[in-house]
Amino acid sequence: MSAEAISATHLEVDPSAMSRALNDLGWVGVDPDAPEVRAKREYLQANNGIRGLEICQPAEVERAARIFRRDGFVVVRDALTPGQLAFLQSGVDRVVHEMMALDKERVGNRGSHRYSFGGASKTGHLMHHPEWTQLIDLPTVTPILTAIFGARDYVLRGGGGDFCLPGAVEYQPLHSDMADRTIIPLPDGREFIHGSFKDHRGILTYRDLPVPYIACNFLTVDVTEINGGTRQIPGTQHARDPIPSLEEEPEWMKLSTVCPAPAGSVLIRDVRAWHGGTPNLSDHVRAIPNVEFFAPWYRERAPRSMPREMYETLTPHGQDLARYIVADSAETLSFGYRRNLGYTPVSSMARAKDA
Ligand SMILES: [Fe+2]
Repeated sequence: MSAEAISATHLEVDPSAMSRALNDLGWVGVDPDAPEVRAKREYLQANNGIRGLEICQPAEVERAARIFRRDGFVVVRDALTPGQLAFLQSGVDRVVHEMMALDKERVGNRGSHRYSFGGASKTGHLMHHPEWTQLIDLPTVTPILTAIFGARDYVLRGGGGDFCLPGAVEYQPLHSDMADRTIIPLPDGREFIHGSFKDHRGILTYRDLPVPYIACNFLTVDVTEINGGTRQIPGTQHARDPIPSLEEEPEWMKLSTVCPAPAGSVLIRDVRAWHGGTPNLSDHVRAIPNVEFFAPWYRERAPRSMPREMYETLTPHGQDLARYIVADSAETLSFGYRRNLGYTPVSSMARAKDA
């Protein structure tokens, strides 16, 4: 990946964003009733979604772990109580409003109308928000993560997640959230080190390892055929094949969306599995905040993103998980949003061919 692999776009502020309802923040410069949008909506309504999607209950720990190992992801319903879900929705409402106040044209940082929460945040994470830190050690999810990793001493990397506004009409290209160690020069002259695993013999890649890195994305709305759910390609977590571009991607993959799935569910993902965003042609925001974990034996450089006051509110196990990202007692972290809401990685740009 080169410096051209990352783009920074100048965004315009939106003074009206804070006074608008959450679900009125989309469809900027895109007509929801345009004939091609209507046609795409009808097509997705009729065809989108993984046939026979298996959804587990929280108590089905072994089943969830088995499906995760087979497919590279698993959905578990009722991961959040109604109270936890409402609290998470309120956090999403606040952060989405604050971000939209910085992007009038809805340029996005993962394509038009499409955003990474973490990518927009100065720390790269949202571990300074209690709505996000409540997700770290849930009685519904911790046993499943423990079963998948095989031990309780896994590590919290941080958390953010993503959202798309209604009016995100394009697909996000399929991608993996991990790579073998790559050093990416940033436009400001610094370097971004992506990944940590590198076999100098050229024998093993990160794709050959047991699961090193898991993201738990929580559904804050019912994910439907038309509101921009994540498409996941089952069984690709170990695949070494090149990931298809949008032009190369077969139609069945474009329709391999994790839906329908109810609000309050968690989508537990091996981040290596091929996945991407899909169009949100609905009338509401689809947000899936997340927390992310490394296996007990795997490390990547992760910034300290959690203030000590927040750490003090966690369970003992949550504190153990957060041991590498909590700030020193003498340290003051800088919060807020990155200029222009960060960068758009090339893997999220609509393009015909990989760069
Ligand atoms: Fe991703």
